Amino acid sequence: MIFPPTPENIARAADLIRQGKLVAFPTETVYGLGADATNDAAVQRIFEVKNRPTLNPLIVHVASLADIASVADLEGRSDLQDKLRSLQQFWPGPLSVVLPKGKSISSFACAGLPSVAVRIPDHAVALEFIRAAKRPIAAPSANRSSYVSPTTAQHVEAGLGAKIEMVLDGGACSVGLESTIVSLVSPNPVLLRPGAVTFEQLKAVLPELELSRSADTPEQPLSPGLLREHYAPSTKIVLKAKITPSEYPARVGLISFGQIEGSEQESRYSAVNVLSQSGDLSEIASKLFAAIREQDGLGLDLIVVDSCSEVGLGRAIMDRLLRATAKFT
Ligand code: TXA
Ligand code: MG
Repeated sequence: MIFPPTPENIARAADLIRQGKLVAFPTETVYGLGADATNDAAVQRIFEVKNRPTLNPLIVHVASLADIASVADLEGRSDLQDKLRSLQQFWPGPLSVVLPKGKSISSFACAGLPSVAVRIPDHAVALEFIRAAKRPIAAPSANRSSYVSPTTAQHVEAGLGAKIEMVLDGGACSVGLESTIVSLVSPNPVLLRPGAVTFEQLKAVLPELELSRSADTPEQPLSPGLLREHYAPSTKIVLKAKITPSEYPARVGLISFGQIEGSEQESRYSAVNVLSQSGDLSEIASKLFAAIREQDGLGLDLIVVDSCSEVGLGRAIMDRLLRATAKFT
């Protein structure tokens, strides 16, 4: 059930966490499905509820920089502490950092890896909830495995509602794409997943940062889970640039990144979502997943979606779209 984030409901959510139950909560990126990261049984339940492969590790959420030291093992690692100091300007925010795992964290949360992904979300409800729970919160996106991530409490309820007691409602997520993930446990820092903290921003403070494409191999994936297709709706979805209108089936939806001509909508499309009148990438990112979910519910034969250049936030937008369209192209 969906609950408004009143102090009483946040206290109740925190109690549920301490009892080993799951709570879905808002963050600035997407909604998370949270459990006590130190409780094996609670963490295992996340994998069951999402139908998530147990080899795909979770992100652990904390409320302060000081708490990172209780989740990661930074003893004697002044090199890591230096790198973290350069990254702390992005926290609270949409950045997850992979560090050596601390002992208290359930190895199920880390899929048996010696590392843990950590982040401090930039959302008042998330921070209050984590502080009240007094536990690090392991949380993947609160969707069924391999479906589009949820950016509203209603999305969570539609996908997982029957299986979880509580969804804290924090409104629509402001960023709308999952966090950037950077690994600090490989020889050089590696960008494992692009997000709203951009490669360009990170490179300015971590000059040795590499793109995962150059560092990753199928034999030794740096980030299990990220090699697989993700985020796909049930309706076939393709990039608009990859198809000509003469190939369109009967009922086609358009997800546009900018203003479109009225005639284009009337003549060709059964549904149109314009994500931003001005082509603003932040606005496009924040509305993208909701638009894909909305059109996926319309019984269309095809969804076509715009592209943008892969720089800045555009890198994250195109990453998600290439994953969503991968199984259809
Ligand atoms: O924005 C987000 O990151 C959201 C919100 C809820 O914080 N969470 C999220 O979680 O997107 P999820 O499970 O959908 O994606 C987490 C990804 C995994 O697919 C995995 O590849 C990577 O994080 N990951 C987690 N721990 C890792 C580790 N120790 N080493 C490498 N990659 C890791
Ligand atoms: Mg996910």
